[in-house]
Amino acid sequence: MRITVIGCGYLGATHAACMAELGHEVLGVEVDADKLKLLSSGTAPVFEPGLSELLDKHVSSGQLRFTDSYEEAAVFGDVHFLCLGTPQKSFGLAADTSYLDSAVRSLAPLLTGPALVVGKSTVPVGTAPVLAELLTSLAPAGTDVHLAWNPEFLREGLAVQDTLAPDRLVMGIVDPADERLLVVTDFATAELVKVSANAFLATKISFINAIAEVCDATGADVVDLADALGYDARIGRRFLNAGIGFGGGCLPKDIRAFVHRAGELGVEDAMRFLREVDLINQRRREHVVELATAMLGPLSGARVSVLGAAFKPDSDDVRDSPALWVAGQLHMRGADVRVHDPQAMPNARRMFPTLTYLDDPVATCEGTDLVLHLTEWPVYRELDPVALASVVARPAIIDGRNCLDPTVWRAAGWDLRALGRR
Ligand code: UDX
Repeated sequence: MRITVIGCGYLGATHAACMAELGHEVLGVEVDADKLKLLSSGTAPVFEPGLSELLDKHVSSGQLRFTDSYEEAAVFGDVHFLCLGTPQKSFGLAADTSYLDSAVRSLAPLLTGPALVVGKSTVPVGTAPVLAELLTSLAPAGTDVHLAWNPEFLREGLAVQDTLAPDRLVMGIVDPADERLLVVTDFATAELVKVSANAFLATKISFINAIAEVCDATGADVVDLADALGYDARIGRRFLNAGIGFGGGCLPKDIRAFVHRAGELGVEDAMRFLREVDLINQRRREHVVELATAMLGPLSGARVSVLGAAFKPDSDDVRDSPALWVAGQLHMRGADVRVHDPQAMPNARRMFPTLTYLDDPVATCEGTDLVLHLTEWPVYRELDPVALASVVARPAIIDGRNCLDPTVWRAAGWDLRALGRR
């Protein structure tokens, strides 16, 4: 098929490359000139394992191209995927759907023949019917232009795999007639599946983090507890890793937008618990800053090293990253903060130019009074605690992700503190 992908950020660039990999002819539409230049040369605008290889392969073969022209897209495609971002609005909790709206307004008037438009962005429930109406009213082809809603569930770091082999496909369409391998449903359900999934994941993480607070108060160990809980197949071990909490471009803004939308729909009571989920999550980061302060004494002049800036490993994304937030707070309270991340340093530097960034994790820790392990990149788990103890000023570490072995680190002379751990 001839496919266009409108909006080539994280989701769109991955979707475009994967659709080409599946054998379709793909035209990506990107209005940001810098991103367009990178994509056109077959380079991913973000760090995502496997993405640059796919882009390079299909841009070179000519099966995948990029443009900033909606005219070209309208002529080219039979199917148009909408992959625009829906970030949190600058005022309030709601999701900003204006990029989607303006993409539809740009595309629709150019659709002179039958076409299928597929929304993939995460949207507040009730968005799709408004866009469907906009499409048919603005398109010369009128009701020959159809809208479907097909939310994405890709995880950063696994985006290529999740797109090529998704664990489920949800299709929201107006008239569900065909139900085979897909979950075919109406617009509202398709939209809600996505936000409900993210709300559930966020709740699971905040649940275990709330339990970690109780563990701290009782001397229990949240990692043992999560392992024991996880053996119950109904609960499962995944997303029960306690630590500094969730961040990124999805979970935090999606749960806030869900709360906001529930309010608009008159069911705010039903989603009130998500505010608590958000508060528990915020408290985790603050707790790490408090713990660091307790370990260091006055922060002014204290030397601190932070391992990890991305919101999770295998990503260069620092949006709402708990790690970078903690680094920034310690710096603003007077500490001299050095940061290392295997991939996210360019993005981190743009967001927090006043922190010091070093290319090597050991050099980052050299001469510091406290090490904070805040993103669980495998390279940090491989650090040798004995060797590291000999380069720091004081062997003290906070494991914000609960994945360093406390016994091994303590045996090497470290004062290791973790969240919710014995
Ligand atoms: C999420 C959803 O998983 C995905 O399905 C959706 O399409 C987009 O949002 P992503 O933002 O890439 O994906 O990250 P995810 O792997 O869900 O992790 C989110 C955050 O939760 C990260 O900051 C991670 O460190 C944190 N997390 C995850 C925990 O703190 N504990 C856990 O047990 C799991």
